[in-house]
Amino acid sequence: MRKICHNGRMRRSLLQLVHELTQRALAPGEAQGFWKFLAERLIEYFGCERATIFQRDAKDRLVSRYAHGLKEPLVIPPGEGISGWVAECCKPHLANDVYEDPLFNPQIDQTTRFRTKSLLAFPLPYKGRAAGVVELINKPGGFSKSDMRAVKFFGDELAVLFVKFRFEERQEQMTRQLVQNEKMAAMGRLASGIAHELNNPLATVMGFSQLLLRDSRTPPEIMATILKIDAEARRMREIVRSILTFARASTEQAEPVRLSAVIDASLELLTHERRRRGVNIIKEIPTPEPVVLGDANNLKQVYLNLIGNALHALEGQPDRRIILRVFRDPKRQAAVSEVEDNGPGIPEKILEHIFEPFFTTKEEGKGTGLGLYVVSGIVEKHKGFITVTSRPGCTVFRVSLPAAKSSEPSPPAKP
Ligand SMILES: Nc1ncnc2c1ncn2[C@@H]1O[C@H](COP(=O)(O)OP(=O)(O)OP(=O)(O)O)[C@@H](O)[C@H]1O
Ligand SMILES: [Mg+2]
Repeated sequence: MRKICHNGRMRRSLLQLVHELTQRALAPGEAQGFWKFLAERLIEYFGCERATIFQRDAKDRLVSRYAHGLKEPLVIPPGEGISGWVAECCKPHLANDVYEDPLFNPQIDQTTRFRTKSLLAFPLPYKGRAAGVVELINKPGGFSKSDMRAVKFFGDELAVLFVKFRFEERQEQMTRQLVQNEKMAAMGRLASGIAHELNNPLATVMGFSQLLLRDSRTPPEIMATILKIDAEARRMREIVRSILTFARASTEQAEPVRLSAVIDASLELLTHERRRRGVNIIKEIPTPEPVVLGDANNLKQVYLNLIGNALHALEGQPDRRIILRVFRDPKRQAAVSEVEDNGPGIPEKILEHIFEPFFTTKEEGKGTGLGLYVVSGIVEKHKGFITVTSRPGCTVFRVSLPAAKSSEPSPPAKP
């Protein structure tokens, strides 16, 4: 499609473009394909080198939905650069020589390794604010006034499609989350029911094996077998305990807890593991640190599991470090803690299963697959939530808990 300068004809071809995009948006297909298609059409229509499409997120940052050649999304902090300004003011902005423009931030080019010369950025207005921003980059001879008029018209039209996709994506996410929650709840009910029933027979097995071990009449040749029975029964008791911790985790005895105290207590218990694997621990904890209301022992279980998993993931890695971070999220009134490791990461296809009970990639007999299940139960009981992001070299488990109003520190949790 060629741009025609005459006003009426330009508008006609612009309408054609809008029509084409609407058809494409209504056809079945995922959003990512649409953003690419849109960027290609814009490049063709405006005769520029590149087009980048940004969505404005809950923190008012601009996150690219399509940026040519970039694997990771490009993130622009609120109000940063020309597009940040466009998002805040909800007005288009034209800079035919970006280096003459005080709003231009050359740092963004350093991230993308692309040299911007001219830029026409326009908002996608929805309910009086920009839901997204589109950047048209580098047009030979510069963008014209009619390009500016075109984007004013085009922005409104495009915003409708943009919001439609966002709405559908959010709906899909919510459905997935609901299904996952229901699945976890059903599995939890089943697992804790079984655990409860196993408690008594297990106590009997352990009691009798102890009696036999202490009995002088027990033939020495079967001692080793009884020891094995005893060890396996103990292992089963640990599993039962973990499941019941999940079911019973409560905040009834809630007290102000300093996260650094529970993190330190967990680290102390893992000292041997950490030294054996030669893992470097970096703590990033602010002062004053946020305090949460909760059960220190239950919370210790959370970090014990998360740090334990990180230590395990670092086995055999050339460079091994764990970062333990605590910070406050004032927007959500939350105390956030992160356990980050530079291990191999969690493959995409298992990521959605790691919080399920008994899901483990450890070899037979090495792991129960209950660690993260218990962690998610405890966090949930504390009215918080846990998220994970992972790629090779960087896995981050983030626990977000409601911050206590009082900043009274608690005594450190007992190891
Ligand atoms: N930091 C991490 N890096 C890579 N993979 C991880 C990490 N944390 C968890 N996982 C994956 O999630 C799976 C489930 O973890 P979870 O703690 O629930 O059980 P587990 O560690 O396998 O067993 P257990 O906790 O009983 O030792 C692990 O087997 C592993 O595949
Ligand atoms: Mg584990």
